[in-house]
Order: sequence, then C-alpha cells, then structure tokens
Amino acid sequence: MEVLVKCKVLVSLALYLGAAILGAGALVAQPAAPPAKPVPAWMNASLSPDQRADLVLKEMTLDEKIAMLHGVGMPTYDKLTIENAASNRGVGYCVGVPRLGIPGIDMSDAAYGVRSSGENGRYSTALPSGVAAASSWDTEAAYEYGRLIGTELRAQGFNMALGGGVNLTREPRNGRTFEYMGEDPVLAGTLIARLIEGVQSAHVIGDIKHYALNDQESGRLYYDAQISKRAARESDLLAFEIGVTRGNPAAVMCSYNRVNGDFACQNRWLLTDVLKKDWKFPGFVVSDWGGTHSTEKASFAGLDHEEHSRVFYEKKYKEAVEAGRIPSSEMDEHVHRILRAMFAVGIIDNPRQRFVVDPFAGLDVARRIEESSIVLLKNDRFVLPLDSARLKTIAVIGAHADVGMISGGGSAQVDPVGGNAIAPPGQGATRWGQEVWFPTSPLKAIQARAPGATVKYDSGSDPAAAAAIAKGADAAIVFAYQWESEGKDLASLSLAHNQDDLIAKVAAANPRTIVVLETGSPVTMPWVDAPAAIVEAWYAGSDGANAVGNVLFGSVNPSGKLPNTFPRSEADLPHPTITMPPPASQHFSGPASPDQWAKGLPPFQVTYDEGVKVGYKWYDAEKKPVLFPFGYGLSYTSYSYSGLSVTPANKVKVTFAVTNTGARAGAEVAEVYAALPASAQEPPKRLVGWSKVKLEPGEKRTVTLEIEPKYLSIFDEAKDAWTLVPGEYTFLVGGSSQDLPLKATVNLR
Ligand code: BGC
Repeated sequence: MEVLVKCKVLVSLALYLGAAILGAGALVAQPAAPPAKPVPAWMNASLSPDQRADLVLKEMTLDEKIAMLHGVGMPTYDKLTIENAASNRGVGYCVGVPRLGIPGIDMSDAAYGVRSSGENGRYSTALPSGVAAASSWDTEAAYEYGRLIGTELRAQGFNMALGGGVNLTREPRNGRTFEYMGEDPVLAGTLIARLIEGVQSAHVIGDIKHYALNDQESGRLYYDAQISKRAARESDLLAFEIGVTRGNPAAVMCSYNRVNGDFACQNRWLLTDVLKKDWKFPGFVVSDWGGTHSTEKASFAGLDHEEHSRVFYEKKYKEAVEAGRIPSSEMDEHVHRILRAMFAVGIIDNPRQRFVVDPFAGLDVARRIEESSIVLLKNDRFVLPLDSARLKTIAVIGAHADVGMISGGGSAQVDPVGGNAIAPPGQGATRWGQEVWFPTSPLKAIQARAPGATVKYDSGSDPAAAAAIAKGADAAIVFAYQWESEGKDLASLSLAHNQDDLIAKVAAANPRTIVVLETGSPVTMPWVDAPAAIVEAWYAGSDGANAVGNVLFGSVNPSGKLPNTFPRSEADLPHPTITMPPPASQHFSGPASPDQWAKGLPPFQVTYDEGVKVGYKWYDAEKKPVLFPFGYGLSYTSYSYSGLSVTPANKVKVTFAVTNTGARAGAEVAEVYAALPASAQEPPKRLVGWSKVKLEPGEKRTVTLEIEPKYLSIFDEAKDAWTLVPGEYTFLVGGSSQDLPLKATVNLR
C-alpha cells in the first residue's frame, strides 16, 4: 500500500515537472533552430530507382562502394563489433553508407517465418512450410504468406528476407524439399512470384533462391550439376524465370553448387547471360553464405554481393579495382544494383520501424493457409469428416501428437514461442540439427472438437500397444512424421522410426484408422491399402493442430492438391539412389573431409540425364504408375468438368466449366495441361495453368484461362530462345494430372 502511494506521488511529481518545463518553454526565448539540412537529391521519390541510385553512387568513395559489396559476418553468432552493432543480429548485415543516410541491409532467413526470433527474445509466426503453401495452389494465399513474413520481418527490425526457395523437386529426398514449391516450374514460379510480391509489399527486400539446380543437400557445397541448357531452361530455371520476371524480387541468391562446370556464384551463363540479360533482372545477386569462390571471375560473371564473409569482395576486390583488373564501371554496376534495389523496394523511403506484431492475426493466417494446403489422399467409405456426435472413443496415436507438430529445420527453422514442445521450457531458441515440435497439440485439437468422446493417447513407440488402444475405438488417428532439414538429405522416402509398422498394426486393429502425415517430402506407403483415410498435413505451422482438427471434423473442406508426385517406390525415381560425394560419406552437405576444403572442393558430378522430365513428366514419359499423382487431392464434395473450348491466339484461351456435384461447399483446383506436337520431343504433358474455384453445392462456374505462350514453347538451344513448335496441341483439363476428363486439340503456329 505504502509503495503504491509513493509511486502515485512520484508520478504526480513527474507530471507536474513535465508540465512546468513545457510551460516554461513557452515563455523563455528559444535559441534559433539550426539551419535545416538540405534533403539529398536522391530522396526525391519522383525520380526512378535507377536515377536515385546513380545520384548516391556519384557521392560514394571507393571504400564505401566496396563496403556495399560484402557482408560483415553473421551477427546472430558473431561477437558485437562496431560494424555489426547497428544490425538486428540476423544472419547477414551490409553496413550501408551512414554518411549519406543509406541504411544497412539487415538480413534474416525467412522461409516460413522469421528465423532466430527466440534467440533474440522476439516473436514470429511459423507458417506452414513452402511445400504446403504450394499445395494450396492459391496465389492469394501465397501473397498473404509473403506479406505476413515481410510484416513480421519489418516489425523485428529487418529489411531483407532470405526466403523464396524455389528449387524444383528433382530429388525428393532433398532435405530442403519442405522449403520449396514442388516439382512443376509453372506452379512453383507463379506461387513464389506472388509470395515475393507479398514480402516486398511490406518494404522488405525479397530474394529468390538457390539459383540454380541446388536440388540435393548431399555434397551441396560443391557438386557439379550436369544438364543440357534446354532441359535447365525448361525446368528449374523456368521456375526462377517466372519468379524473377513476375515477382520482381530485389535479390537473387546464387547457390553453392556448380552448374555445368562453374560454381553458380561465378557462372556467367547463369548470372549474366540468363538472369541479367535475358530476364532483364535489375536487382542484385547475393551469394549463398560462403558460396563465393573468386574475386575477378565472380565479379565478371555477375555476382554483386558476397555473404556472409568478405574473403573475396573486400580487400581483394579493392586491390583488383586499384590494379585495373576489375574496371570501376563493373564495380559501380554492382553497387548501383544494390542501391537501386533499396530504392525500388522502399527501404530507404520507409525506414524500419519496430513494432509489436499481432500474434493472433498471424496464427489466423497460418491456420487458414494450412487449411487450404492439407491434401486428402484417401477417404474410403467416407470415414472423414468425423462426426463428433457419433464418436464415443477416439485413439490418438503417434510421437508427440499429445504436445505438438513437427517443423522443418536448418536455416528455415522458426523458433516456437516458449520453445520446442518436446524440450524442457527454455528461452525459445532452437538448435541446428534438432527436431523442433511446435506447441500445437493434435490431441487437444481433437478433444476440443469431440467434447463428448473419451480420447486416449499413445505415443506409438510400441506398435502392439498402440494397436491395442486403437482396437474397438470409434476412430483411430495416427500422426506419422518425417523430419527434414537443410544440410542433410533423407536416407530414404520410407517413414523412419518404425512408423510403417505402427500404421500397419493400428490399421489392422481398427478399420476406421486415419493416418495424418506431417512430412516435407513424399513418402512411400507399403501400408497404403490398410487405413480408411490418409491426410497429408505437411509441416503445419504454428496453428497446425487446429487446421488439421477443422479438416478432420469437417468444418473445413479439404482443397489442397499435391505439388509433388508420391512414387510407389524409390526404384521408380529418375535416380534410385542419391549421387553421393566421394568417398561416400553419410548424407552430409559438406565435403567428406576437411582436407577436401584445402584441395579446393573437388567437383563431383550429379548428372541430371532425366533432363526436363522432373516429377510427373518423368512418370508419364516412363509410364510408371505412381502412388498419388501430381495435382491430386480429394474433397468432401465432388466436382464435374464440362464444355471445354480452346481458342488459338497469341495467348491461347482455354474455357471450361466446373460444377460442384456434391452437398458441401468446396474449392476445386482445376488444372490445365498441354501435350505438345510430337516433333517438340517433350514429355507427354505439362501444366500450363490452373484456377482454384470456390463452389457452393450445385454451383457451376465457367473458367477462362489465358495461357502464356512460353508455357507452350520449347527452349531452342541453337537459337538460344524460346520457340513455339508448329503443330497440334492437345489441352487436357481436370482435377489431377491423371484425371483429365476434358480434351481438345488445336493447331498452333
Ligand atoms: C542456406 C541459405 C541461407 C543462408 C543464411 C545457407 O546455408 O543455404 O538458404 O539463407 O545459409 O542462413
């Protein structure tokens, strides 16, 4: 009480003194205000970003220019220094030009949310992983995804996002498959473009990565991807091309690996011929962390900025400029691109302002995106949606399904609030190489939706014991997971930790078994016929359990479609085993021994002889049956397709109707594929467009799509250009790459 009174007295005193000082200020003559600083010419927002960048460049000294070309380490892990002190302690920082009012570039990883927030005592929302966002096939959800990331980065004080992963799923065992957008370049490119627009709408520099063909983690720092230019342009590079030309990211991150002999970050064909000249990319190329390998060569190839170190782009760069080995004009162009990007995205006009994010709004976005991303793979006898009124007992089975859901690791890792759900409560930071479970409990979500039922939980560590609790329950829900992380490929596509056996035993004990998968990659399913239902929930984000609960109990009708084919077995993949660095180490991303660093990262080749046949294009061409095809996903309602017409034009018009023939409202991803003339020598079909259509029961909607000419073209290596092969084009329309009821053929030339 006494303390309270004292506080009140102090507050009153402070208010009184404040008022007195303000009042006195009004009476006492003020010293003359210092003359206002002239506003620098580059702050004139009516000039173009290029003009503004040039105005700054003219004022810069050589040292200031060099400082723009490299980072100053990884502030998160480094000691505090004068250079990194102004940073926000993310993974990268470029000092800017304080003398001219050009801010530092403060970078954070942000694949599915802002990284390392727990480390810094901050909050960030974890969205479902990239592959989940891709399975929504929803461009507006992708924008919202990016915008949330941009907003939370800005709130935390960052102005550059390191996200935008769009490497194609050439190798589904790639430990980063969860970060990426699937196996099709048009789907992946379109979605990443929208996501980047979302990030940059918050005045945060967006990047797209890892350019290019960084499609496996084993030996990722130095393997040499061998691929024809045509196949590269029509597959992995097409995803980047769409992302770059439509999303306008201010930055592109070149990857660690080599491509046809040269490291990506010093590969002139990739960086200059294709990216900067052909795609007219006006932004800057930043190396992956430690991915720079030279000074003159990299600079000439088109690398603008070295991260996170400054081995090649600091002293050595200055020496090369002073000795005339690098023309000043080349250096200036790199600096210009970085400044231009800063003006174009608005990080100079809209300085960072920290603010408190609304975690509930974040959870809401994360849940809604997950709801539209969940893919219903199987639903026999309409076991789903569950009817809570009829359930008396439910068995919930699976590792940690009582407390949380798994997340993807590596530099993408978002720290969960309060820390890892399976670790003792701590600061909230996470550790590299550790499975992180977000505290979103499937058990609680299920219990909340079936308040009248007895819900029993078993971890599944003993499959026989789990089967015993499943037996006789009205429903048995098994949560199975596959953890993935940067730095390591999956040893195989089989579920680890004996989960295949667990599912088989539980499904044998209970005919109403529902399997919920939390995976980043496709998995093989030796048990596929046994459970009544299978749901792919991916890495579901901060509010994953509520999203899964809403789908299982039917308040949300699933509408996701697979962005990656689920093969029957690894023997059916283009590469049944991953090409490993010599001598075969475990699935490790670095060189097999420290010696190899010293010897200069010896190249070993990963030959992409399947070429353009990535994902479904491979299975189609090789006539290999699959477990679940690309573009596939069930709903609680049903749809029919009718009335296809195709009108040749510069942009071919494809019109058709979709009808909801069931009793529930839903959203159908209507997919359009094209089969090119035989003389084009292409796989049987390719995705050229889609539309996610919301339909009430009985509602019919007409959809018209205009197809980009490039999506119907081939890349002609001899002409070094895209060309349309004259001939018959067949358009196929339907709800999955293997269920295409509508077909029409037209002649194009
Ligand atoms: C990853 C990048 C990441 C960077 C910074 C690298 O190891 O490949 O994706 O942005 O580290 O953390």
